Amino acid sequence: MRKKVTLITGANGEIGQALIKYLAETQRTAILAIDIRPLDAPLKAMCHTAIEGDILDTRLFERLVSEYAITEIYHLAALLSTRAEFTPELAHRVNVQGTLNLLHLAIEQSRWQGRSVKFLFPSSIAVYGLPDLQTKSYAGPVKEYAWNMATTMYGCNKMYCEHLGRYYARYYRQLAADPEPYGVDFRSVRFPGLISAFTLPSGGTSDFAPEMIHSAAQGKPYACFVRPDTRIPFMAMPDAIKALIDLSKPEKSELKHLVYNVGSFSLSAGEIKDAVQKYYPDAKITFEPDPKRQQIVDTWPADVDDSSARKDWGWHPDYDVSRTFDEYLIPNIAQRYNS
Ligand code: SER
Repeated sequence: MRKKVTLITGANGEIGQALIKYLAETQRTAILAIDIRPLDAPLKAMCHTAIEGDILDTRLFERLVSEYAITEIYHLAALLSTRAEFTPELAHRVNVQGTLNLLHLAIEQSRWQGRSVKFLFPSSIAVYGLPDLQTKSYAGPVKEYAWNMATTMYGCNKMYCEHLGRYYARYYRQLAADPEPYGVDFRSVRFPGLISAFTLPSGGTSDFAPEMIHSAAQGKPYACFVRPDTRIPFMAMPDAIKALIDLSKPEKSELKHLVYNVGSFSLSAGEIKDAVQKYYPDAKITFEPDPKRQQIVDTWPADVDDSSARKDWGWHPDYDVSRTFDEYLIPNIAQRYNS
């Protein structure tokens, strides 16, 4: 008998680390973790197996399926939006070909197991592309189908992978004589900028918020790379994990869509500065906008309409702004840098 496992790619990333902790602690899930960088020992200890490997390495997957029955996939590996602009073709390979490899694995596993394997995929507000600031200010909270004109390689990759997910879920080999009996049970959330107390993002364009908070906690000055009036939606990491877990639970028939916005709170960079200085009054925060990264954030919506997620699977965030700072960020960050 092959061991039943939940596969997590990008396991060493921000979402991956938080998800491993959650699944290991609360559900005692057997986790098969993959990341290009090795996991730290404590995180490794929470996994059934942790592999240092590349999602572009199809031989690796061939080996894995001979040893494991993969019952659920959280495909988190990706190059984020700023990083991807420096190496767009590499980003395309990792973000798109990597996802295709995982979808292929999922459909094969579905066939083997005689049921459709769940495939959880984090998409992003980067799939939106508002043409200018005036449009951004009147657009209000955007719906899933509006303004889908990504301007970054990362945003294009996420958008296309949502389509691939839909294809593998509903139309894979649709002309074959023996159509796919199960498909892949693809489910995706479009995340806003995520803020964790325990890790820092690398290569994202919403990084100014977490960087500002973590710098203040360490007594380091921070020059924010966007203007103070720059507003996008954000979410505390525990809510991001909750969104993935909550979306994984309903029966497929209860979900009207495959892709859902999830919102929590929306803040401008200036408001984040004010919130940070409430707790760290001496924090030295300045604004030195980088016109190119600014241009990217200016195309992202100020807020998202997540009414479909609320209606279909009962989405609601646990952490509003004050709870995010008071109960999650400030105490945990203080502990992290003072210990
Ligand atoms: N936070 C991501 C980024 O900045 C967007 O999903 O790239």
